[in-house]
Amino acid sequence: MCFLSIRNARDLAAITRGGCVSRRMSDCSVRAGAVCVLLFLVSAVAFAQFELPAPKRPAGPWMNTSLSPDERAQLIVKELTLDEKISLVHGGLHNLAAMFDPNAEPDAKSLGNAGYVPGIPRIGIVDIQMADATVGVTHSSAFGRYSTPLPSTLAETSSWNLDIAREYGSLIGRELRDQGYTMTLGGGVNLAREPRNGRNFEYHGEDPLLAGKMVGTEMKAEQAQHIIGDLKHFALNESETGRFSVNVKMSKRAMQETSLLAFGIALKESDAGAVMCSYNLVDGDYACENEYLLDHVLRKEFGFKGFVVSDWGATHSTAKSVNAGLDIEMPDHDFYGKALKDAIESGQIPMEKLDAMVERIVRTEIAVGVFDNPSDRRVPDVFKGMEVAKEVADESIVLLKNQNNQLPLSRSLRTIAIIGSHADVAVLSGGGSGQVDPIGGNAVDTGDKDPFTQHIWHRSSPMNAVAAKAPGATVKFDEGTDVNAATALARSSDIAIVFVHQYVSEGVDVPSLSLPENQDALVSAVAAANSKTIVVIESGGPVSMPWVDNVSAVIEAWFPGIKGGEALADILFGDVNPSAKLPVTFAKSDADLEFPQLPQQPPARGPQDEIQFAPGFKVNLRHFDLVHEDGLFIGYRYFEARMIRPLFPFGYGLSYTTYAYSGIEATPQQVTFEVKNTGKRAGAEIAEVYAILPQAAGEPFKRLIGFTKVLLEPGGSKTVTIPLDAKLFSIFDESKDDWALVSGDYTILVGGSSENLPLHATVAMHE
Ligand code: BGC
Repeated sequence: MCFLSIRNARDLAAITRGGCVSRRMSDCSVRAGAVCVLLFLVSAVAFAQFELPAPKRPAGPWMNTSLSPDERAQLIVKELTLDEKISLVHGGLHNLAAMFDPNAEPDAKSLGNAGYVPGIPRIGIVDIQMADATVGVTHSSAFGRYSTPLPSTLAETSSWNLDIAREYGSLIGRELRDQGYTMTLGGGVNLAREPRNGRNFEYHGEDPLLAGKMVGTEMKAEQAQHIIGDLKHFALNESETGRFSVNVKMSKRAMQETSLLAFGIALKESDAGAVMCSYNLVDGDYACENEYLLDHVLRKEFGFKGFVVSDWGATHSTAKSVNAGLDIEMPDHDFYGKALKDAIESGQIPMEKLDAMVERIVRTEIAVGVFDNPSDRRVPDVFKGMEVAKEVADESIVLLKNQNNQLPLSRSLRTIAIIGSHADVAVLSGGGSGQVDPIGGNAVDTGDKDPFTQHIWHRSSPMNAVAAKAPGATVKFDEGTDVNAATALARSSDIAIVFVHQYVSEGVDVPSLSLPENQDALVSAVAAANSKTIVVIESGGPVSMPWVDNVSAVIEAWFPGIKGGEALADILFGDVNPSAKLPVTFAKSDADLEFPQLPQQPPARGPQDEIQFAPGFKVNLRHFDLVHEDGLFIGYRYFEARMIRPLFPFGYGLSYTTYAYSGIEATPQQVTFEVKNTGKRAGAEIAEVYAILPQAAGEPFKRLIGFTKVLLEPGGSKTVTIPLDAKLFSIFDESKDDWALVSGDYTILVGGSSENLPLHATVAMHE
């Protein structure tokens, strides 16, 4: 049955633009399809006469494209009235509540995503239409639009492949443009300091170099589509526990060498047009009014020329925020509307400050190209979306254990048991503002409609994909809710593939690394019933695996996106040789983490500690300190400094072939070595380069200073040269408020994981 329905003029207009109101075109019969095409043609002709002419571009000296973005922006600022300037520095939604109220009418020109800043047509300033888009463009379904649910960014980061990051960013940029957006709210670069952080799936792991390079490459690719890029959440918003009120404390050196370094690298790589300041406080000041972060580090140290936008509801003042360097309040105008106008008129804030804010915003629009190319709507290329989703998933699924070469599987298996996690129909995704709407609706509808708790399962069936690989096999599914039924099926099958999951979402951290809902017991029981048990994990970050010694293979699939099922089957049967490696350390248990128990936010003492964030949603603003005594010790550095053995180390991942490293030569500028594929299959090896600093640096751990991915045929070898950046050898000297190189001998290590580094060389360096 074809679901094509035309309910109103908007639907008809959607068809004339080439969209289809049906969510289930595959259900359309050929006849209904023909009717669809006919209707499209008729309505296209009917509407052609109403087609609006392209908006006339204004004339003015600032339209001269041979002038620099700075010169053009300065000319524009001179043209603007005070009210116009004010209108550019805050969001255009009526109020925050409108975002959460399905019946609220947002401003007519808003595309209905997270927020927008209306433009000024008489000058040619375009609307900044912002869309949440960390793992794909969000909020498509309410408007009948399409966007591709990609694997999570943590998955993408597991590829350690900048070409993959480029593809990922280009696709998101194109799909944003297709839908009429001009700015992304993607670019999550908060480090996985807290492995239970509910948003790690939207970020890029625990290492500043890897995270910075991957997200920077993504953002550069998005900006190449004339989308204003964004890096968020600046800074130290590294857990969701009490995110509106936690006061993060650590030394300046620790901040600089870890979390801030990741932002610096990402900015350098991307020249992103915007940075979103975060909800939390840092050293006693909210991030969006924090002079050290916004002025000292972002503008002066990093040389950032774009604009700073607040996270949603993260603005807490007018003058303090303006002076610190916040340019746009989102999504509303509590502090940057009338209050700012009054402050300018009374002289409390000088006009030059506002002019500088507006100039940064307009300059960014011009530099990114959105000013001169305001709109470029198209029917999205769904095929390309699927292709990229598959390509990213192939390179992001990590093989963690493969005892006795249990994998890849044989196509002549007779019976395969698939157990748990709705693997018959779908793969899981993460929740909150990084949630991409499921194509065709949620594959597993639990009735929950809350965007922060509702588990969204994308329609990609691992079971069907597995069955297609072994056409002679009987493939049976068990839900895994009844351990006895699951073990009975496992016992009667050649192999058992158990799918386990840990849902995570913005707004809350997971209480523990342990899998929820009794899944550890399920795996143990299945493993006891079938010695060939393979575990596939779908998670937003690391999980613990008390059963790891009893299963024969383990695969970390993360949230693998709309082609996850197919990618998993390709890995399981060896059509794709796994090449991904962990961008985060997997601890054996919570006891081995910096905070074995998540820090607790103290309860609100009364209304003075609370704000009404949205209808029915109060936020506890009671501040509490989160002190990182040794903030330098993040991820693998923590495990190394504390001499704790992890379950799986940072940078680790297996392949169906093997690699050998030889012939290291290192100078302060570069390292050269050879990698050889010593196995029988073609593969791609991620080569990792680390440095141990001289003892005087006081850092009892190594740091990642370079990486590359090398494609190798069986028996093939390649000589690789990786350039080295002096800053990655340096420490942040608080007494000088600057980076410094400690004179002495540096050990350079090369290999296939942070714990397997066969090549060593010594390099002497002097300040
Ligand atoms: C999130 C941001 C997001 C914004 C708009 C906030 O709650 O922290 O990441 O971009 O909402 O949806």
